[in-house]
Amino acid sequence: MLKNIEGGKGSVFYRAHSYHTKVPVEGVIQLIEHYTDPGDVVLDPFCGSGQTGVAALLTGRHAVISDISPGAVHIARGYTGRVNPDHFGQAASGLLEQLEPLEEFLYRTPDGLVEYAVWSDVYQCSTCGREILFWEAAVDHEAGAVNRTLSCPIGHGPFKKTELRWMRSEPVQRNIRVEGQQARLVQPVEGAVKDQLGDRTSVPYWYPTAAWEPWREMWRAQHKVQRIVTSADFFTSRNLHALSALWDAIGQIDDDSIRAGLRFVFTASVNRASRRYQWHPRRPTNVLSSTMYFASLNYEFNVFSLFRRKLATITEMYRRTWEAPGTCEVHLGSAEKLTWAEDGCVDYVFTDPPFGSNIYYSDSSFLWEAWLGEQTDVAAETVVNRRLTPEMGGTTLDDYEKEMSRAMGEINRVLRPGAWASLQFHNSDDAVWSSIQSAIDSAGFRVEAAVVMDKGQASFKGLRHEDKGERVANFDLVMHLAAGSLSISNAQRREADRAEIEVELMDYVARQPPSRCTTPWLHSQVMRHLLAEGASPTGWSFAAVESLCAEILERRDKSWHLPKSSR
Ligand SMILES: C[S@@+](CC[C@H](N)C(=O)[O-])C[C@H]1O[C@@H](n2cnc3c(N)ncnc32)[C@H](O)[C@@H]1O
Repeated sequence: MLKNIEGGKGSVFYRAHSYHTKVPVEGVIQLIEHYTDPGDVVLDPFCGSGQTGVAALLTGRHAVISDISPGAVHIARGYTGRVNPDHFGQAASGLLEQLEPLEEFLYRTPDGLVEYAVWSDVYQCSTCGREILFWEAAVDHEAGAVNRTLSCPIGHGPFKKTELRWMRSEPVQRNIRVEGQQARLVQPVEGAVKDQLGDRTSVPYWYPTAAWEPWREMWRAQHKVQRIVTSADFFTSRNLHALSALWDAIGQIDDDSIRAGLRFVFTASVNRASRRYQWHPRRPTNVLSSTMYFASLNYEFNVFSLFRRKLATITEMYRRTWEAPGTCEVHLGSAEKLTWAEDGCVDYVFTDPPFGSNIYYSDSSFLWEAWLGEQTDVAAETVVNRRLTPEMGGTTLDDYEKEMSRAMGEINRVLRPGAWASLQFHNSDDAVWSSIQSAIDSAGFRVEAAVVMDKGQASFKGLRHEDKGERVANFDLVMHLAAGSLSISNAQRREADRAEIEVELMDYVARQPPSRCTTPWLHSQVMRHLLAEGASPTGWSFAAVESLCAEILERRDKSWHLPKSSR
């Protein structure tokens, strides 16, 4: 019997390259070892960063994995490619040595090399027209806070920044690594130094100019105001110069596996090298935000430092995979048509499909794909996309259900008779759960069991429609599917009655520590129960579960507890 699965985030496999909703490889290993023997074939048709492939490599299975996103395929190949770590390390050292004069030119100051600079927006006072530097007007360094309103240098205001005209962004502070010293030097950026940063017309190498267009889900009016119209606009000119030189030098490396490995290090550094990292006095390394928005204060990290750091992690990873016993093939293509897979050739499927409309993978992968020169076919993605017209690929939850049904049908076709599939999923919307349940049914599967995969710590990137605080979950459900449907449609499913859910919740809360008794956990527990029992999730939304909890349980410190009367 499969128990709930723990996954870790500290491993080199987790840290090597970011990806939206990456599954911890330890969790996938547990499942693969449970369901297969060494030498078996494992499939993941929504592979993302390819953790199923990594799990197969490490456990001596053969993985065949695919994704519709060229960015995901690049990352999955980077993770699962066989790269000689010694040759890789030598090639990377040569590359960095060759680019050292450029690093000196771009980041050297009289005191040392810039590790990062902080950039601030500049607004125009709507009363007197004077410039308002956000850094001066809104940051309270002593309190470690950023104020919501700002006044102009002669006291007009206070204004919300949305009431002001955005003029430009400029560097205000730099953090310098002084050779031979631990502590960093923090200096204001003033006068002539600001001008030295130059404009990007002087960048001598190719860089991508993929269009960032208003039809994208993650496009915001801010992009128009700040003239963010191509991928190049996501970088300062200095970082664009450094990145383009690195990309060019990597492209000249002859050995295919080493070149691919170095491109993997490059894309692993790209998001952090962009202007998407918010600076805050209290959180010096704020995580990548869930949008493509630029904060009013953001980082410009030294590209070469970022690259060196990722290089160390990825070289360590290649040491672990170089002689690993398994294999992995990565394909670019839709899960709805696995043209490269014959009927009955797969022994086990582990997959983590898109969760309805929570994450816009193609937008989140935009910068990677810009450098790779190939963008996801948005119209073919299995997500609910309400911003696009149907002609452009816009989709509803019904379309999502049909697409997931086709993908589940393909999974059933390629599985050998009697083999299992595990489907990882998470959503706080009961309608999306119903869609997934229908897709599972229509493809001829039944849910035999459902367990929780605890992913360590909250990691969802690109989440929308979810409250940033509580509802960002750090676990998913994993449904274990066997072929052979009970042939019941959603309309015929029995409805779960309230008393049954009450018993389930009380029983769960009695057994679990408070950290696992927040509403997201309880909602998932209800979904787990309904799916495993073949009952309909309709009506059991996040809000419905929360309101039932409020009636039958007591809430303290964000967790639900048994009421005193029942203890
Ligand atoms: C939840 S993510 C998978 C994450 C992955 N398990 C990992 O650990 O990185 C879902 C993936 O499905 C992909 N996708 C969306 N629509 C697809 C389709 N029609 N066919 C194949 N892949 C698709 C997205 O590009 C995304 O990488």
